[in-house]
Amino acid sequence: MEELLSVKNIHMEYATGKSKLVSIQDVSFTIHNNEFVSLIGPSGCGKSTILKMVLGLIKPTSGSVLLGGAPLIENTSRTSVVFQNSALFPWLDVQKNVEIVLEPIIRDKDLRRETALKYIKMVGIDGFESAYPRELSGGMKQRVSIARAISTSPDLLLLDEPFAGLDVFSAQALREELLDLWLPPDIPPHAVLLVTHNVDEAVQMSDKIVILSKRPSTVIAERPIVLQRPRNTRSDEFYQTVDEIIRTMSP
Ligand SMILES: Nc1ncnc2c1ncn2[C@@H]1O[C@H](COP(=O)(O)OP(=O)(O)OP(=O)(O)O)[C@@H](O)[C@H]1O
Ligand SMILES: [Mg+2]
Repeated sequence: MEELLSVKNIHMEYATGKSKLVSIQDVSFTIHNNEFVSLIGPSGCGKSTILKMVLGLIKPTSGSVLLGGAPLIENTSRTSVVFQNSALFPWLDVQKNVEIVLEPIIRDKDLRRETALKYIKMVGIDGFESAYPRELSGGMKQRVSIARAISTSPDLLLLDEPFAGLDVFSAQALREELLDLWLPPDIPPHAVLLVTHNVDEAVQMSDKIVILSKRPSTVIAERPIVLQRPRNTRSDEFYQTVDEIIRTMSP
């Protein structure tokens, strides 16, 4: 499998007054095409920081992030992101919230409108194109965010606890729908990096789980998850896998 993302020996420290705070000690992992990888670890261990590095928003103190084998600045692969709070523009309706990210990519207005609508339908919120974010439930807002993120056909989709703000039923429905959207190998995104605290969620969705320690963080373990898809989240194997991961995470 072709390597899409390589995070190599990331170290991150912040100056706090006279001393320095080491947030990330040494973290390395890779994501291949057609791989769904989860990053789990305690609060404050640097998961969101790593996602921001992959987006190119911040630079590590040392170490490197390579996308498609090239440093971020030179790469042609594209990433998009969904955060816990859907981060929609409140003054734009659903249709325009999706169209806005297509503006630099699709010049033709009609094609842009059609493309946005295709993804709005894909996430099951058609009929709400002219609704504003304030008129939508949390789950519906996350659907718009997902539509927006995948509408640009990214190579790598980054998810930072996208289900954490939803009730259990909406979260479960959206997880399953996201897996359905992701699974066809020829359609973007080609890989997913999910940040989560929820071990069940990581086991349900991932091909591989990267477990981080508390700050200053290192990789405690990398666990491939080979359970057959679609995964039965009530099977003995599933519970066993979740248990093993929780034990690995416990100090
Ligand atoms: N600009 C900054 N200046 C100083 N410290 C920072 C800064 N940004 C982040 N940190 C520190 O880096 C650490 C990692 O933060 P980060 O948000 O990446 O953690 P996280 O693993 O995503 O946590 P959570 O699970 O709670 O979302 C935290 O301890 C935080 O205090
Ligand atoms: Mg975070």
